[in-house]
Amino acid sequence: MNPRTLPDAVPALFPNRADRERIGNWLTQELEAAHQRVQAGPVAPNIDMQRFRAELEGYDFQKPQPLQDALRWAIERLEHGIVQMSNPRYFGLFNPGANFPAQCADRLAGSFNPQLASSASSPVPVALESHVIRAVAQRAAFGDDATGHFATGGSEANYTALICALTAAHAKFSADGVRAFSGPVKFYTSRDCHIAWLKIAHQAGVGRGALRLVATDGHGRMDPEALARAIAEDRAAGAIPVMIVATAGTTGAGMIDPLHACADIAKHHALWLHVDAAWGGAVLASNRLRGLLAGIERADSLTIDAHKWLATTMGCAIFISRRADLLSEAFHASTSFMPSSISGVDPYLNSVQWSRRFLGLRLFLALASAGWEGLGAHVERGVEVIERVKERLVASGWRIANDSPLAVLDAIPPAAVGDVRALVRRVVASGRAWVAPTTFEGQDVVRICATNGETGMADVEALVAALNELAKEPV
Ligand SMILES: Cc1ncc(COP(=O)(O)O)c(C=O)c1O
Repeated sequence: MNPRTLPDAVPALFPNRADRERIGNWLTQELEAAHQRVQAGPVAPNIDMQRFRAELEGYDFQKPQPLQDALRWAIERLEHGIVQMSNPRYFGLFNPGANFPAQCADRLAGSFNPQLASSASSPVPVALESHVIRAVAQRAAFGDDATGHFATGGSEANYTALICALTAAHAKFSADGVRAFSGPVKFYTSRDCHIAWLKIAHQAGVGRGALRLVATDGHGRMDPEALARAIAEDRAAGAIPVMIVATAGTTGAGMIDPLHACADIAKHHALWLHVDAAWGGAVLASNRLRGLLAGIERADSLTIDAHKWLATTMGCAIFISRRADLLSEAFHASTSFMPSSISGVDPYLNSVQWSRRFLGLRLFLALASAGWEGLGAHVERGVEVIERVKERLVASGWRIANDSPLAVLDAIPPAAVGDVRALVRRVVASGRAWVAPTTFEGQDVVRICATNGETGMADVEALVAALNELAKEPV
């Protein structure tokens, strides 16, 4: 070993410039070609998983292979091994075909790999993220004192809300946890909420029993009277209510809880009000539709997933609140090794994560290149797609269970069809389109959601044809 030199950097991990350019350019072309095939191909995976698992066994990582071979292999397997969100006949859960500016943002983030924990490491990304947060907060009429951050998903953002509510509810929660409270903690959301709230209750240490699932009004919206009753009952029994969660765009049916009524009840009982607008919050981008969320500005905190209807790459959620002091109280830490430690500025002192990826660039580039007008048009287009599906299904004898102004439809097939879940399985297995089964107000329905920004009329017709034709097939 020569003490004056060092071994070369490992070339497979850090190739030279010419190889990087060659492989990078090749990758760009391959991805585009795969994207075209995916858009025209089946929506459901069509890979033999037994064969794939056997192939994986061959990867014992003893004998390296050229990166290009590994990339080619991975692209081919992804092309056949996932439900294809970028296929315009994906009418499924809230997973978007990712918009192109957000995909570019991921390339930038991967290349520069900034560390967003601290503003000293990443002054530009930290300032850029907080600029985007303020812009979104303004659309929600949250006022100039709003603060927040990007999170990995709605679940992290919702977890943050519960921690803020607990921190606000008792000055000693920070030091003593739930022992600070004189009785069991309770929080409230509708029974049609996103059920990750149960996991959130568990991980926050209040226990799953802390979550009260409030009845809906027969149309999938939280019933304010049932909510007020639940709070009063719990108080009378010695429990400590801390938070109401209103859902703005339920996962199953796109229903919007009565935001003003929830805000009135929260105010009356001095409770934290969180609005989980993980999916529905996207309508804030549209001047025509944003009024649907009137009352959201009265919330103490807000969750919006940019990786849902705003179609960034996953996972890219936003948490917004006016209470910067609570975020600092809940997530403060003290250490000498961080390049900066500025309360209210450095993300690692205001949020769950420590090391963090540059997520906000995805929404920044989408906004910078499309503007609110472009994002609003994308959201409005989704509502129109669902309108077209609705018209066609109703004309062929289907009924619509939900009355959502958003881009999701819960449809009930004509009576003769029988088992809704079996029909959904047939549609998905056919690869012609992708829809989900769910239950709305006690009834099995086919859940059809516009999630792909490029769905066209031919895709709408293809979906309706698949639903109607496969409904006629004997089970
Ligand atoms: C209303 C609502 N809240 C929260 C979530 C969870 O968000 P994430 O999957 O980003 O953690 C979802 C996901 O669909 C949702 O629909």
